[in-house]
Amino acid sequence: MATLKNFLVMFIFVIVLSSISLASATNGGYLYPQFYDRTCPKAQEIVRSIVAKAHAQDPRMAASLLRLHFHDCFVKGCDASILLDNSGMIISEKRSNPNKNSVRGFEVVDEIKYALERECPETVSCADILALAARDSTVLTGGPSWEVPLGRRDSLGASLSGSNNNIPAPNNTLPTIITKFKLQHLDLVDLVALSGGHTIGDARCTSFRQRLYNQSGNGLPDATLSEGYAAELRARCPRSGGDQTLFFLDPLTPLEFDNLYFKSLLTGHGLLSSDELLVTQSAATRALVEKFAASNKAFFEQFAKSVVKMGNISPLTGPTRGEIRTNCRKINGEHY
Ligand code: HEM
Ligand SMILES: *[C@@H]1O[C@H](CO)[C@@H](O)[C@H](O)[C@H]1NC(C)=O
Ligand SMILES: *[C@@H]1O[C@H](CO)[C@@H](O)[C@H](O)[C@H]1NC(C)=O
Repeated sequence: MATLKNFLVMFIFVIVLSSISLASATNGGYLYPQFYDRTCPKAQEIVRSIVAKAHAQDPRMAASLLRLHFHDCFVKGCDASILLDNSGMIISEKRSNPNKNSVRGFEVVDEIKYALERECPETVSCADILALAARDSTVLTGGPSWEVPLGRRDSLGASLSGSNNNIPAPNNTLPTIITKFKLQHLDLVDLVALSGGHTIGDARCTSFRQRLYNQSGNGLPDATLSEGYAAELRARCPRSGGDQTLFFLDPLTPLEFDNLYFKSLLTGHGLLSSDELLVTQSAATRALVEKFAASNKAFFEQFAKSVVKMGNISPLTGPTRGEIRTNCRKINGEHY
């Protein structure tokens, strides 16, 4: 009897151990929500309060911070590489095609980092700040909440080519976008749910002008755009000029995190080509859009799961990989 019990205890022990090592093998590291509970118990509250203040001053900031986490994770993993400025050794990702004249929120991250360094020096990574700020931004705009796995460390470098190649472009084909998500171990469900991030925020005229004036054809708008919407867009986004003019990604409720983005896709009101092709190019993605359009709850639950999955892309973990930057814009010990 005793040996059977011992055997069972050993058996469970082995199962638990192997599932932990499997989790770290597939996630690239082991993150957990309580990571700062002893070393910086106020960390999450500090991030939340500064994000809330920034959102109150500029309602678009929630969208900008959510996007920063995405653009960080798709390049060398969630390691705050996107936050590095140009310096002797580093070519900043901020000048890549997806980022230039577009990504924002760096001053808010600086303010959070400054407050955290005063509270608990050299403890909370910039990569974790981005993951927490993405969650807080989602909640502040009315979206779902989730526990953020923590313990990422910050990179010692950036990748301009990674930023140009890995982040999908708004005029990529659906197969290309699917491939770029697959490379990050994100599937079709993740793609559609995470595209729901476009329920908040803006895009510039340059990001979708191509759809309004078919160059190779008759000069008419992309037929998958609703006619009335295409006319509105053409009025404010002419053939030339107005490149930086901003348009809501979710024309119905641009400041609210909800599923109306998906409803708009079904009526030809997706602003970017990469939005609308989710309903026009594949039955599988269309079915997912319909599911999220029909149920806010289904969207919220899947969005939370998929952001956590995105936040697990190749984090630097453990005592020796990467570092905890004291200034998110530069690696430690580098002066310029
Ligand atoms: C599926 C592939 C995706 C493509 C092609 C794409 C493309 C874009 C483009 C072109 C813009 C507008 C940039 C500009 O004109 O300045 C944008 C904005 C935005 N994207 Fe995406 N995106 C994708 C996925 C995602 C994901 C996964 C998230 C986050 C979960 C996200 C969150 C956002 C947000 C919140 C904005 C608005 C940012 C702001 O107003 O500052 N996007 N995206
Ligand atoms: C996509 O947009 C970029 C930037 O505007 C442009 O250089 C490129 O030619 C476009 N690609 C396609 C396939 O239209
Ligand atoms: C642009 O016009 C060409 C030629 O008429 C056509 O094959 C193509 O599908 C059009 N593109 C869009 C986005 O409507």
